[in-house]
Amino acid sequence: MRLFSIIAPLCAATMMFAAGGSFLSKNAPLYAEVSESSALGELIIASEVKELSQKGSFSEVEFVGFVPEGSNVVYEKAGMLIIGFEASNPSVLNVLGKKTDEYGSVWINVSVKGFVKTDALSSDKSKVLGIGKALFQAKCSTCHALHAEDEFDVNVWPSILEAMGQQAGLSKAERFSIEKYLQNYTK
Ligand code: HEC
Repeated sequence: MRLFSIIAPLCAATMMFAAGGSFLSKNAPLYAEVSESSALGELIIASEVKELSQKGSFSEVEFVGFVPEGSNVVYEKAGMLIIGFEASNPSVLNVLGKKTDEYGSVWINVSVKGFVKTDALSSDKSKVLGIGKALFQAKCSTCHALHAEDEFDVNVWPSILEAMGQQAGLSKAERFSIEKYLQNYTK
């Protein structure tokens, strides 16, 4: 088979389902089937997924990330605590390989496939991060002046948000919305 005849249909499929990439516009359950019954876990706002197909009001998606050995929290990259997916059980994760980071910690490269409500996806990552920006400005300047977005490292913000989320009485959705905004911040 000539290369073109393989590539052309692939491109067409990609364009149909994922023009410009798909990002979670909110935390949303990832289901095993096209129904809201059994959740494999929860995809976290602003994480990127690959859209594979469309079934009614659901999209079949794949998320690929890295999980510390023995954990069920999948991060977007090895060595960076940017949360992407919380698995209900580590057994829902397909192991692709292993990677050791610069500190000697082992990260397992995993993928998970399932169905998410299509209305929880957006092609516009900056719009999604804008939700977190607005929340950050509204919720994080009532007791003290607003801290700068670049004051702390990507891996430091989660513990600050854990403490300040309690101070500010944030919901889980609000907490991760702000956390992902701060971790994605670039000047
Ligand atoms: C109810 C009051 C309150 C709210 C709301 C609040 N904070 Fe704080 N924040 C504090 C207090 C008190 C301290 C200092 C003591 C401490 O570190 O716990 C602090 C300290 C901090 C620090 C400094 C930590 C350090 O180690 O230098 C950062 C950064 C911070 N807050 C970020 C935030 C963010 C982000 C939000 C929004 C999610 C937020 N705060 C909302 C009360 C609040």
